[in-house]
Amino acid sequence: MARKQTINSKRKTSRRKERVLTDQSILEEIIRVDHAGEFGATRIYDGQIAIFGKKSKIGKTIKHMADQEQEHIETFEKLILNHRVRPTALLPVWNVAGYFLGAATAMMGEKAAMACTVAVEKVIGEHYHKQLSLLKGDHKKLKATIKKFAQDELEHHDIGIAHDAEKTPGYTILTKFIEMGCKTAIAISKKI
Ligand SMILES: [Fe+2]
Ligand SMILES: [Fe+2]
Repeated sequence: MARKQTINSKRKTSRRKERVLTDQSILEEIIRVDHAGEFGATRIYDGQIAIFGKKSKIGKTIKHMADQEQEHIETFEKLILNHRVRPTALLPVWNVAGYFLGAATAMMGEKAAMACTVAVEKVIGEHYHKQLSLLKGDHKKLKATIKKFAQDELEHHDIGIAHDAEKTPGYTILTKFIEMGCKTAIAISKKI
């Protein structure tokens, strides 16, 4: 009886010691796609700032978000190097597509530019939240980073709403179209 209890307590201890680890391929996908997404975000805001100018009222608001995106991309650049993750081969595509999306929505007006922000940040925020459940206890620091960035993205989304994004003519179609584009870019950048 005493022996059985000892075996059981040993089993419990070893179970407690067992660490749930993050799947390596999932970790690589997370870093690759987040790096791609943050790069795309910097390019969208670059495109918008090019149209509005840094010194305009809207330009300053966008610059605040762009500065945070810069911090995000720099963090993922370091993670790409530290974890030896191959960046997506499609960076040149996201470079052009992001800038074009930013510039095109800015040319449609301030509200459309903010509608673009709402759509993009909504998708990125949701995407970050999904990743939090994929990362286990062996990557607590990365989890904390993603949590912080998800909060920044939510702030950007709310800035878009506060700047009358929803009053853009054709808001629903425009945002659905951009959301679809972002989701496609995410799916591709995980793998390629
Ligand atoms: Fe970001
Ligand atoms: Fe953002």
